[in-house]
Amino acid sequence: MIKLSPSLLSADFSKLDREIALVENAGAAYLHLDIMDGNFVPNITFGAPVIKKLRPVSGMIFDTHLMISDPVKYIPDFVKAGADIINFHAEAVNNPKEVIDIIRGFGVKAAVTIKPYTPVEEIEELLPYVDMVLAMTVEPGFGGQKLIAPALDNLRKLRRIRLEKGLSFEIEVDGGVTLSNVREVIEAGADVIVAGSAVFSAEDVGAACKEFLKIFEEYDI
Ligand code: DX5
Ligand code: ZN
Repeated sequence: MIKLSPSLLSADFSKLDREIALVENAGAAYLHLDIMDGNFVPNITFGAPVIKKLRPVSGMIFDTHLMISDPVKYIPDFVKAGADIINFHAEAVNNPKEVIDIIRGFGVKAAVTIKPYTPVEEIEELLPYVDMVLAMTVEPGFGGQKLIAPALDNLRKLRRIRLEKGLSFEIEVDGGVTLSNVREVIEAGADVIVAGSAVFSAEDVGAACKEFLKIFEEYDI
């Protein structure tokens, strides 16, 4: 079953509880939380204290995307705040296997993330150990960018390797996904779809989620 992970980055930050209720009631399974430190990426968002406050208002899977230079330092804070999945960038760390072990040691799901032009080969040896791989289709840092089509090749490669090696990690896509291109993204291999502006900038946020979910049903087997 394909899942929707609306990215809170494009939500109205003055009413986060209401924005979350809209996507949760519409049936989104994951909530994508973009953490930026102004160092790994040229933007700053929010941190663990905000997630901690949001945790009691939602039963969704908190899909935490750390775009930060020193993820290891902050993993315990995100675990305590209530993250269910922690995505860290392969480009940010020297020993990604160690980071996976630390995350999993807390009983939380571990996901390795790659930027659009990072080859899948760089993380191939990690694939047996992760719960999810997040393949970005925009340069991390901002919502509302256009999907970089050549980055879809990473989804295709991940799906092929998963099949060949009999692995079971989820494949998540993030960046520039819209109702118009989501079929192409699914057909390339994604099974968790992040959508920020396509959901939260829509006139009717709940209806936008439902439209995504309706498309996902076409791929239910
Ligand atoms: C970008 C973030 C994305 C972003 C996606 O660095 O990681 O999660 O919110 O937003 P859209 O869907 O608008 O590209
Ligand atoms: Zn993200």
